Amino acid sequence: MGVGGRLSAGVERRSGEGLVIRVPGDKSIAQRALILGALAEGESRIGAAPRGADPLSTAGALAALGVEILGPDGPASEPVRIAGPGLRAWRQPAAPLDLRNSGTGARLLAGALAAQPLSVVLTGDDSLSRRPMERIAAPLRRMGAGVEYVGRPGVLPMRVTGGPLTGIRHGGEVASAQVKSAVLLAALGAGVPVEVREPRRSRDHSERMLEAMGVEVAEGWRDGAWSVRLPNPPASLAPLDMEVPGDFSSAAFLLAWAALSPGRAPLTIRAVGLNPTRTGLLPVLARMGIGVEVLPGRLAAGEPVGDLRVGARTGPVRAVDVGEEEIPGMIDEVPILAVLAARARGVTRITGARELRVKESDRLAALALNLRRIGVGVEEYPDGLAIEGTERPLAGTVECFHDHRIAMAFGVLGATRDCDLEVDDPAVADVSFPGFWKLLERVRVPVAGKPAVRAEGPRSAPRCVVLAIDGSAGAGKSTTAAAAASRLGFRHLDSGAIYRAVTWALLESERRIDEMDQVTREELEALEVALDWSAGVMGVRIRGIRVPERALRADRVTASVSRVSAIPLVRAQLLDLQRAAARPPGLVAEGRDMATVVFPDAHVKVYLDADVRERARRRILQRIGTDPGNAEIEAEAARLKGRDLLDSTREVAPLTRADGATIVDTTHLDPVAQTEAVIDLALPFLPPKH
Ligand code: DC
Repeated sequence: MGVGGRLSAGVERRSGEGLVIRVPGDKSIAQRALILGALAEGESRIGAAPRGADPLSTAGALAALGVEILGPDGPASEPVRIAGPGLRAWRQPAAPLDLRNSGTGARLLAGALAAQPLSVVLTGDDSLSRRPMERIAAPLRRMGAGVEYVGRPGVLPMRVTGGPLTGIRHGGEVASAQVKSAVLLAALGAGVPVEVREPRRSRDHSERMLEAMGVEVAEGWRDGAWSVRLPNPPASLAPLDMEVPGDFSSAAFLLAWAALSPGRAPLTIRAVGLNPTRTGLLPVLARMGIGVEVLPGRLAAGEPVGDLRVGARTGPVRAVDVGEEEIPGMIDEVPILAVLAARARGVTRITGARELRVKESDRLAALALNLRRIGVGVEEYPDGLAIEGTERPLAGTVECFHDHRIAMAFGVLGATRDCDLEVDDPAVADVSFPGFWKLLERVRVPVAGKPAVRAEGPRSAPRCVVLAIDGSAGAGKSTTAAAAASRLGFRHLDSGAIYRAVTWALLESERRIDEMDQVTREELEALEVALDWSAGVMGVRIRGIRVPERALRADRVTASVSRVSAIPLVRAQLLDLQRAAARPPGLVAEGRDMATVVFPDAHVKVYLDADVRERARRRILQRIGTDPGNAEIEAEAARLKGRDLLDSTREVAPLTRADGATIVDTTHLDPVAQTEAVIDLALPFLPPKH
């Protein structure tokens, strides 16, 4: 333990050497320790275990499997103790195991359960139930376990039926520490050799811990892939006695705060995990002119641990370029890097970070939106961001999208000079860093009585329920969305009308259709596109004037709108406008990319579809008011197919069914039934009065 201090997160002391603090234990490592401790024979002792939601979920699941665990919800200063029953001694639980939000818990337990003579259903919360499971299920099935989806294919809930397994050589297409760990745990439990091959090295916490527990692990590059093997799985596993290293990702927030706070005392963060697969931010900080001294310490369960120290800064923070090769080693640190970039001198470019779109939130979108909102210039790429550093005062409300790292990154910025930020959901930080706001409050140099961030406890802002409805042309989106919005008392965002209004304005400016994609940002900005809700239904204003409905529906607009809406710049330019339409009590958003791009966190996602001839019939009926003949239907169907093709094959925000969207086929439904179907899906999210 460090000098005379505490082991849990917090300020350890203030002294001549400055401020000394600790951050919570690393939850990736802690959850592995819990699971491996529960497979070992004898008592494991896990000190400094974080008490956040994820480790608690995993510990709860292990307890339901009959493993005796002491103190997982006790004070962080006390170790967690596990009475390990041995490799294949878990008991059949009475009910499904709910891993809530813990992806590590769900995936690693699936692997461990594959070798137990049990049949267990794993479930999780809504967000975990959207994450892909097949990449784990497939290798476990190949080893001989039964893995079935109880609900929708590919996601939780999932039943794992374990039994004797055979060893395999698994070659994954993506490097994933969770997949690798699941397969290793299955082989370990079953006592069979195994090899996992990855296109690049993923985090190696499991391998290090297994080695520390006496398991032979062979690793290295073999035939162009990173190979991890258990050549001789042991008959039993020695228990663990360890201190969980502080979470580097949590420490990163404090490092960034220190870097942005000139004039403060030196800051030391004790006993931080320094696994090289996790510390990729350090060389980036060095390039930004932020010096972090690393004082190496001992190993904990095979993990390097050390103190991090940020001295006084000598020069300005400089912008950096961070590309694909560097991202894997700092994937969780991109939000805090983005915040540093906002205060750096120059433009920071982050690329190769597409995976951030499927984290707790679409982190690239969340960062872009919030940075813009508080006054920072940002460009969003499909796989990254360009951020223009500024010294101007920054102010505004930050929307967290239930994402702890977004909340903390902006919390850090809010605790620096010339920033007045409000974080809408501060409590979300508890997921990985309980006590974050208090610690931030205590370390910062007090600025004239101003609290670091106005974030004391969750605000009880009224909630805005978002229903996202996407689908092909003529599937019944507008009718359904308008009717559902009116029934629910929600706003109806007709995003197609916005693209139509922009198309109309560009046509009015006499731009030729084949030159549309040369439109510049300045031209688009000059249109001053705005939404107008004054009449109860959405209108679109261009330079202050509401575009009449008949202009929006004019044939020449309909003929060109697919081209215009495929222009990346146009889409990017209209993103904030659409998101800002969300107001309590709710919004029904209708279009092609509502659930995928604009509102990826929508409460309800619906994909409407119908047979193309039926869609054609409805379109004509809508236009001319009478039922069309066959020839007209065929001609319109051909046109619709063309538009569908353009909408679904374009590069930006193509029309696709979002993960987790419910398909409603309206071919044989009338408008009333369609609306009912959508409202039924929304019911669980509505406030009581509905
Ligand atoms: O729904 P609509 O027919 O009014 O849409 C007009 C066009 O705009 C259509 O070609 C698809 C496009 N669009 C889009 O690309 N993204 C949206 N969110 C909505 C519409």
